Amino acid sequence: MNISIIGTGYVGLTTGVGFAVKGNEVSCVDIDEKKVERINLGDSPIYEPLLDDYLKRVLDQRRFKATTDLKSAVMNSEVSFISVGTPSGEGGKIDLKFIDQVSKQIGDILKIKDLYHIIVVKSTVIPETTEKVVLKNLEERSGKKAGDDFGVCMNPEFLREGVAMEDFLNPDRVVIGSIDKKSGDVIERLYENFKAPILRTNLKTAEMIKYASNSLLATKISFTNEVGNICKKIGIDVNEVMKGVGLDHRISDKFLNAGCGYGGSCFPKDVEALIGKGRDTGYEPKLLQEVHDTNMRQKVIIVKQLEEKLGDLKGKTISILGLAFKPDSDDIREASSIEIIKKLTEKGANIKTYDPKAMGHMRNVFPDIEYSKSAKEAIKDSDACLILTHWKEFKDLREEDFKEMSNRLIIEGRRILDRERVFGFDGVCW
Ligand code: UDX
Repeated sequence: MNISIIGTGYVGLTTGVGFAVKGNEVSCVDIDEKKVERINLGDSPIYEPLLDDYLKRVLDQRRFKATTDLKSAVMNSEVSFISVGTPSGEGGKIDLKFIDQVSKQIGDILKIKDLYHIIVVKSTVIPETTEKVVLKNLEERSGKKAGDDFGVCMNPEFLREGVAMEDFLNPDRVVIGSIDKKSGDVIERLYENFKAPILRTNLKTAEMIKYASNSLLATKISFTNEVGNICKKIGIDVNEVMKGVGLDHRISDKFLNAGCGYGGSCFPKDVEALIGKGRDTGYEPKLLQEVHDTNMRQKVIIVKQLEEKLGDLKGKTISILGLAFKPDSDDIREASSIEIIKKLTEKGANIKTYDPKAMGHMRNVFPDIEYSKSAKEAIKDSDACLILTHWKEFKDLREEDFKEMSNRLIIEGRRILDRERVFGFDGVCW
């Protein structure tokens, strides 16, 4: 099938490359010329394991290209996926300006396109957006009727950063919301060789499935952290507790890792957006609000622990290992490290950091803190060491790496250190 993908961020690029790997002809559209140029040279603008390899492969096979020409991409494809960003706007609500713009532009193109075309929303959008914004814009600008003259679908993504290519190629499920059977059938054919269950729904149900999934996963994490905070008070290891809990197949052992809170581009934003949508309907989503608030508290609980152990933090040197919101990613959006560094610098502490991938991005947020070449260098001469990302290389740290601290205090925000290699450290809630 000939596919165009609008927006070459995380989701758009992974989806485009993924569909090309599956044998389709794909054009990825972006307004950023430099980005388009880089992609066409096989150099992915985002760090995502495997993406560069697959990108080079589909470029060589001439099944994939990036372009700034939206019109020709839509005219020459049967299906267009909209995967532009939906950033957080005022009061946590999602900002739909890019979705609005792109759907109007596609509407203008549909006006002059004679062949049947399907527009699929891939971006995470709050329920009713596809119908009330995208479909409406498409009909208004094209002068045509959705369902008769063109198709509209909503096909949410469930990609985890760091394993996005694997997630795309081997999904747990594919959700296809559509306004009519005809357009849903075409998108279902696109996923025929994916070996995943396909769930067909209407547009707003598909949108809600994405929010409900992410909110439930966020709830599992905040729940685990709350249990962990109680466990720590009574000297119980939350990790063992959740191992026991997760063996119940109704619960599963996934997303039960306690730590210094969830971050990233999805969970914080999606939970807040669902709270906002609930409120718009006149319903107060107290549970979701508490999931969010628990997470905000959890992110900085480690600072209180530091103060309990070190007293006044003014002039103290704190080393921070791990800045990315999760390992195998250079993404620092909503990362716990940001809130922690903010609080520590407010209290007058000196910060030394190290992260294998995310230091470049963090320099834009905190240009004045110290960035080290290695974990060992960051740890040296510090009064305390915090570990905030579950990077594999921190697993290999050993006792001698901590020998040159000026004061021995290590607190992990993620369960990572090996008790056989490092003797004596504390956990955020274990
Ligand atoms: C998430 C969803 O998993 C994905 O389906 C969706 O489409 C986008 O959002 P991602 O943001 O890449 O993916 O990260 P994920 O691996 O889910 O982790 C999110 C955050 O939760 C990270 O900060 C991670 O450290 C934290 N987390 C995860 C925990 O604190 N405990 C856990 O048990 C699992």
